[in-house]
Amino acid sequence: MHWHFYGRSMSFKSLLPIGELNALAVEYGTDKSDRTHDYMRLYEFVFAPYKQAEFCFMELGVGLPRIKAASLRSWRDFFENAKIVGVDNDARLERFSGDDFVIEIGNASRPRFLRKLAETYAPSIVLDDASHKWSHQIIAFKTMFPLLPPGGIYVIEDIFTSFPMDSKYDVYADHPESTWNFIARLQAALAGNQTEWPPISAEESALVGWIDAVFLTRKTVVFVKRNDIRPEESARIEELKRRQSV
Ligand SMILES: C[S@@+](CC[C@H](N)C(=O)[O-])C[C@H]1O[C@@H](n2cnc3c(N)ncnc32)[C@H](O)[C@@H]1O
Repeated sequence: MHWHFYGRSMSFKSLLPIGELNALAVEYGTDKSDRTHDYMRLYEFVFAPYKQAEFCFMELGVGLPRIKAASLRSWRDFFENAKIVGVDNDARLERFSGDDFVIEIGNASRPRFLRKLAETYAPSIVLDDASHKWSHQIIAFKTMFPLLPPGGIYVIEDIFTSFPMDSKYDVYADHPESTWNFIARLQAALAGNQTEWPPISAEESALVGWIDAVFLTRKTVVFVKRNDIRPEESARIEELKRRQSV
């Protein structure tokens, strides 16, 4: 791509080019490619260091049977040594479960089920592409992010459902706070190094304490977990717990 600037022709390599994950998404027909949501460019940047790693990649939400677990096939082809686990509440998807990837049937908005999945598979990367309802996105993040190993990655897809749209999208607004508002508060606390603003609960402060970085693009957000929690943040969480239990 050439950029014309005061008579000069300049070019600079993009940090987020279209790559292998995008090609796989197109090949298998998931909507994560640049033809639809355009998520794969960011994901390739974030996931590339784990291409050969042995770990578990878990996706909440496998998709209608007619798309034949398209995203799970993309992850399987991209990650050379990962165990791929898909989770969905549609029992018809069970028939795609096999050696290449496992599909667990259940409700990904139930903390007990999510904790069981974490106990069984110990995922290092979790990507939530399930119902996109506010309460589900928040519950799954609050449950699974603390259970990721240090360095783990958590993705919440399709956060556009947090924003006012056509009334047919009202079904997503099933919680007093939108997912975006929740994430925005966590990010503000992160950016401000956990000062008194914005007000957050002790539980949220602990989540923030473990966030290393956040990558945001259109409609999707990626959280990277720290290797450890900083002592000053542990002290702040304890202080908040004390104050909030009064
Ligand atoms: C957007 S589709 C997933 C698409 C797929 N990940 C892809 O990229 O091709 C959402 C899926 O989430 C599933 N789902 C909806 N609510 C769920 C819930 N509460 N628990 C588990 N899965 C759910 C639906 O059955 C559907 O298959």
